Amino acid sequence: MTALKKPRRTDDPWDLTERPHTKAKLRLLGDYFGRWLTIWNAPKQRGWASSDWYVIDLFAGQGVYADGDAKVSGSPLVYLEQIARVGSKLETNGIRVHLLLVELNPKNYEMLKNHVAEFMEAHSEVKEIVDIKLMKSNCNSPDVWSEISSLPLISNTPLFMLIDPYGFQIQRQTMDRLVAVDAATDILFNYMVSGVKRAQGIASKPEEQLTQRERTTLTTYAHFLGKDVTLDEDAESPQEYANAVFGSRGFYVVAYDMDYPDRVGTLYYLLFVTKNRKIADMARKMFGGAKKQNYAGQLRLGDTEQFTAEITFFAPDGAA
Ligand SMILES: C[S@@+](CC[C@H](N)C(=O)[O-])C[C@H]1O[C@@H](n2cnc3c(N)ncnc32)[C@H](O)[C@@H]1O
Repeated sequence: MTALKKPRRTDDPWDLTERPHTKAKLRLLGDYFGRWLTIWNAPKQRGWASSDWYVIDLFAGQGVYADGDAKVSGSPLVYLEQIARVGSKLETNGIRVHLLLVELNPKNYEMLKNHVAEFMEAHSEVKEIVDIKLMKSNCNSPDVWSEISSLPLISNTPLFMLIDPYGFQIQRQTMDRLVAVDAATDILFNYMVSGVKRAQGIASKPEEQLTQRERTTLTTYAHFLGKDVTLDEDAESPQEYANAVFGSRGFYVVAYDMDYPDRVGTLYYLLFVTKNRKIADMARKMFGGAKKQNYAGQLRLGDTEQFTAEITFFAPDGAA
């Protein structure tokens, strides 16, 4: 009898034991989202902004990761925890945070649904503040777009979007629609540079040598890039994509280069995208502060200003 092969722990993306970069991403998300809540709840913003705030997570995942025997919250629970932390302040100001969580994989979706329900059960204090909609869908599909277009978003509506695919599952057409939404939009986007480089490698092979899988990758890649981005010159930098998608729409982009944990090079860029220059500067400082620590939590030599200056920053067309 053949023994069943036990899956390697590291193959499971919901096991963080050997994924310090995912832990780092979740820390940055929590840090930023905590600030997002504080900024929008400040008196100055309260004077003009809507009290209905929106969070759209297009690749929501399972909601919880394992880290040894411990549990680590995935993005949906990160929002909920941060909201619970300042819940009474939000409630005082009559804020309602609407979460739209989209997950395609049925198993992940079920886990997500359960984890969110468990959280809400344990935190009745946020029930009045949070309104959650879960969708088991492809985020590029018409039903998701129709849901987003039906939201009462206008230019004074705080909107935070997390776009966190494994590769190029976000299509350019979807991205173009999202950046055109009329709202006070901030986006955190995982630009998978390692995937881009791999796809560029495949694209350089002679057509007749491509496997079916490679052909599918190239089709997905083409839908991701859009027709105006070629990335011929420098697949290493997110600049061409960032300019085409965000810069042309008046967004600043701050790029946090997430290193491979075990070799030299960039695994992905976390792109922070906003129209507000002050918020872009704040995100850049936050990223600089995070760079001061390595994955093991040890402080690197150099001060935060120096790390901040090294964080890549793209201004939108025509802005300084
Ligand atoms: C990197 S994980 C998301 C992790 C999550 N944002 C977090 O921080 O906890 C990507 C997730 O997107 C889901 N997914 C992949 N393609 C998708 C699509 N087209 N639409 C929606 N979800 C998708 C996968 O099943 C997976 O759960």
